[in-house]
Amino acid sequence: MDIRPLTGGLGAEIFGADIRDGAQFEAIHEAFAKHSVIVLRGQSVSPDEHLEFARRFGPININRFFKPVHGYPEIAMVLKEKDQKDAVGEGWHTDHSYDQIPAMGSILSALEMPPYGGDTLFVSMGAAYDALSPVMREFLGGLWAVHSSRHVFGVTTLDSEAAKSGRLSNASAATQDARHPLVITHPLSGRRGLFVNPVFTTHIEGLNAEESAAILEFLYEHCKQPEFQCRIHWQAGDVTVWDNRATWHKAINDYHGFRRLMHRITVEGVALSS
Ligand code: SIN
Repeated sequence: MDIRPLTGGLGAEIFGADIRDGAQFEAIHEAFAKHSVIVLRGQSVSPDEHLEFARRFGPININRFFKPVHGYPEIAMVLKEKDQKDAVGEGWHTDHSYDQIPAMGSILSALEMPPYGGDTLFVSMGAAYDALSPVMREFLGGLWAVHSSRHVFGVTTLDSEAAKSGRLSNASAATQDARHPLVITHPLSGRRGLFVNPVFTTHIEGLNAEESAAILEFLYEHCKQPEFQCRIHWQAGDVTVWDNRATWHKAINDYHGFRRLMHRITVEGVALSS
């Protein structure tokens, strides 16, 4: 297989791999550990093949809120119809950071893509951390942040287009809150990285509301710098794997009037430590 880095910070494209072939998993996993985001071009997998590949990474985490693929409760549909306005995942986020044990990562398979747009952006949280001053790193290293699913998937969101159209449901199950170190040591690489995100993080413990909001705002602006990003431009059939403990991601909603359909499987992680 041919592995080509997408940027100096994170992400790689892989050509000539076959995710159905278990013998290739070690090389694919090595690329994943090194680049945090890998896009495997030209896979066109069935739901069963997608699941078999995902299970090589670990046990599956069944998402509580996304509409599942018929007959496959482990596979979430990430869908925007041509007459819908909002895309799921438009804000910068880390999947499942509201869980006590956040997901290891997600595996997204592109089924139907618009003729243009619909890319996904990623940020390296390790690169963003490394670029902070030693004094700021020291300060952040002692902090914990709280994350929640309530304001994103809960009963206050029942008016959203995604809830009304049935793409998201089960709002009464959105009761998860979790606290994690603001700086984590990555369980696979040992690299230190920031672990807060604009969608699910509610506040930093121990600071007053103004202090917490100001620090989070500063970190979010810092992390959004293009130097820490990579961008996946999808073709139908591609499969992308990302590490939630090392990245943020964001779906670009720039293909109004066209349908985009992805299947997503999320893999269980481990408790995070500083
Ligand atoms: C997600 O946020 O998990 C989906 C990303 C995408 O649709 O590009």
